Amino acid sequence: MTTQTLEQIETRVSANLFDPAHHLTEAQIGRLIDLATRAPTAYNLQNWRFVAVRSDAEKARLKDLANGQQKVADAAVTFVVFGVLPDAATLGPRLRPSVDAEIMPGGMATTWVTAAGAQYADPRASRDEAVRSASFGAAMLMQAARAMGLASGPIGGFDAAGVAAAYAASGDEVPVVLVSVGRAAPGNWPQKPRRALGEVLEIA
Ligand SMILES: Cc1cc2nc3c(=O)[nH]c(=O)nc-3n(C[C@H](O)[C@H](O)[C@H](O)COP(=O)(O)O)c2cc1C
Repeated sequence: MTTQTLEQIETRVSANLFDPAHHLTEAQIGRLIDLATRAPTAYNLQNWRFVAVRSDAEKARLKDLANGQQKVADAAVTFVVFGVLPDAATLGPRLRPSVDAEIMPGGMATTWVTAAGAQYADPRASRDEAVRSASFGAAMLMQAARAMGLASGPIGGFDAAGVAAAYAASGDEVPVVLVSVGRAAPGNWPQKPRRALGEVLEIA
């Protein structure tokens, strides 16, 4: 990793204060999600959906659903990150580009579809995968924002049922997290100290 990449990881913070005068173009929003979707997903399911909330009216609605958190109104965009319950039937088409590009053999794609069908028959495993994929996507989105010189703030404090209804989530879409992205305003906290490595790391 380059020094700059390390520095970006080491100094990322959850921004709470954003410059309300700062906006992002559709191209910038697209670039952020293009980068976010470089995150891995099981079987390359890519079982996520991102809604970029940036109009004043939509921000006001989402802010209400996020316990009135002001950053939703002030940040240029707040992304609603949905994870999708894996569906083995969609996996074949999702793997087709990798087969066509000769990255993976067609027979292997068939095997993966069968394996995924068995793995996600358990509803809890299915929901876990939706949350896992969305979480990886959100984490990559935050790093992408950092790399593009933008601040980000994850939000878990929101009305999940309300957000699902507001953004027409189907029954297999789980609203996992909101991520506000924009230009930081002065006054944000620095990154908070982390637990000691010895408390969180075991080397087996
Ligand atoms: C899943 C998740 C949910 C969070 N929800 C909120 C939230 O609703 N509002 C908020 O201000 N910060 C929220 N945060 C930010 C955390 O408070 C923050 O990441 C933590 O205090 C560490 O700070 P740092 O990211 O600046 O190091 C959330 C973070 C995560 C990962």
